[in-house]
Amino acid sequence: MYHRLAPVTQPNPLLPGYPFNAWLVAGLTPIGAGDSLDFFIDRPGGMKGYIINLTTAGRGQVFSGERAFDCEPGDLLLFPPQTPHFYGRSPGSDCWHHRWIYFRPRAYWSDWLAWEEEKHGVGRLRLPERLRGEFDRLFANIEQTHTSGRRFAEELAMNLLERLLLRAVEEDPRSHQKIRDARVIEACQFITGNLAGEVKIDDVANHVCLSPSRLAHLFREQMGVNLLRWREDQRIIRARLLLQTTQEPIATVGRLVGYDDQLYFSRVFRKRVGVSPSDFRRRSLDAHDALVALEMWELPRSANE
Ligand code: FCB
Repeated sequence: MYHRLAPVTQPNPLLPGYPFNAWLVAGLTPIGAGDSLDFFIDRPGGMKGYIINLTTAGRGQVFSGERAFDCEPGDLLLFPPQTPHFYGRSPGSDCWHHRWIYFRPRAYWSDWLAWEEEKHGVGRLRLPERLRGEFDRLFANIEQTHTSGRRFAEELAMNLLERLLLRAVEEDPRSHQKIRDARVIEACQFITGNLAGEVKIDDVANHVCLSPSRLAHLFREQMGVNLLRWREDQRIIRARLLLQTTQEPIATVGRLVGYDDQLYFSRVFRKRVGVSPSDFRRRSLDAHDALVALEMWELPRSANE
């Protein structure tokens, strides 16, 4: 006997209720006044991943009341996880078209996700006219690649997204102004090149031909944190990468990033990352399948996610 199957309705990421249960979802939302997409996206608890969006036409409004701000063509916005989403077409504009990418970042992207300009928790970067085509193509390319069905579709899309995030940081005029002194850049390179060793501030200062106190002052002024704290950040970033991408024992990872005492390494790591190195490795190893199964398939917190 022949049964007719009911047509399977594909969930639509542009409408409420879509489960964002992937590493990456990309799309274009073309809102026109009075059409079916003309509503405010409302996710009071934010999302589990990041959202980056680029306005391509018209004007959008983010948040309401005193916190409200508009976005226009060339504006890139970055919503970190758990940041509330409330945005739609600005009432004064007849449309708001925006490209967007929902993503769960790779661990080592964290530096590129702390944008210099921020409005109520949302990163903002205004692209000059000459860059808009490039970024628009990158967004479109990420979406096409991701849905292409090729063998490494998701990896390639993540790869392009990494490029997009790097380009955004590279083009951020504030990140240029901030680190303008070549000696600070040289000091950073010297520190990251010697993470495993116990390099003293005097050695770094010597290397960049500054007095230790002048270096300490300049470093703090331009990097926003003191040199030792910055080195600790780099050590933890490197440790996370080694835990994720190698099978070296925890003690070796600790040693490779400058902690000879494994207990001390674990203590610092836990303080900074929130879990122990071995838990971090276990979680990362299972990452794709287990995360999708255990965490991402949880019911969305808001009806709109
Ligand atoms: C769509 C929205 C878009 C983005 C994605 C995640 O419904 O139109 O702005 O928030 O969801």
